[in-house]
Amino acid sequence: MSKIKVLLATQKPFASSAVQAMQEALKSADIELEQLIGYTDKNELIDKIVDFDGLIVRSDIIDREIIQAASKLKLIVRGGSGYDNIDIKAAHDAGVVVMNTPGQNANAVAELVFGMLIMGARNGYNGVSGTELKGKTLGIHAFGNVGVNVARIAKGFGMKILAYDPYTPSVTIYRNGVVPVCSEEELYRKSDIVSLHLPYTPMTKGVVNAELLSLLPADGAIINTARKEILDEEAMLNMLQEKPNFKFLTDIAPDRLAEFSNFSPRFFATPKKMGAQTVEANNNAAIAAARELIDFFLSGNTEFKVN
Ligand code: 3PG
Repeated sequence: MSKIKVLLATQKPFASSAVQAMQEALKSADIELEQLIGYTDKNELIDKIVDFDGLIVRSDIIDREIIQAASKLKLIVRGGSGYDNIDIKAAHDAGVVVMNTPGQNANAVAELVFGMLIMGARNGYNGVSGTELKGKTLGIHAFGNVGVNVARIAKGFGMKILAYDPYTPSVTIYRNGVVPVCSEEELYRKSDIVSLHLPYTPMTKGVVNAELLSLLPADGAIINTARKEILDEEAMLNMLQEKPNFKFLTDIAPDRLAEFSNFSPRFFATPKKMGAQTVEANNNAAIAAARELIDFFLSGNTEFKVN
């Protein structure tokens, strides 16, 4: 029988230790790993994918055309949490299973939230007096793996913490030392800062809209380490325009970056999406992805299937 072949295709590379760990794990299961790292053209992936049974990606766009070119493909593992970059319907139609590695990079994203919040509170370190996080109310919009870690760290800063998540039982939120609120409106009305942790789905597109933003205090802030699509950019530009102390910090460059940049330092975007970009998070996600591949190909396990 021919060997199972897996392609690691990442435009944004994992740390080399993560690739090595993945390589060793797959080798021990007699699975062959090839790499397509830092590719810039989707056609490079289309040309290569035809030979592979498995594919590991990060935020790489995996559309119907790529899936259709992958005639041997049986499994795509998203080394990360959000899988909005993968056409899961096209994968389903082609009989390809899609999995993710939830939670593996959650602490890395949560730590970046605070790195960015402090930079925002201190005006981008421009010498002007800033503010402190202690005593402020942090609203966590969606209480998944990242939200839980954000809450844990926020306690150390002495923040009051609220969370809204219609899919997480209130008791789970309470158990994390956080006060659950009943609606998005209540979260925005009661918070000084809202940290966004919603996945991007057709239902969450543009949910952070003008109405919600208007409920925040004039000197409030939004931090987005989730997806740009969940936020209404026009509404956010208007907030920055109309409220001279309002801040918007984001790990995902908005489409209208040039217009937003006029509001620096009240606006800050990382030059590249950096939330999950730590050695630890890369190692966790890479090892989890390798395990899922091995379990799938050797024992048919589909525990982390999302389609
Ligand atoms: C995720 O969904 O896991 C994060 O957004 C990280 O994405 P990345 O692998 O592209 O950094």
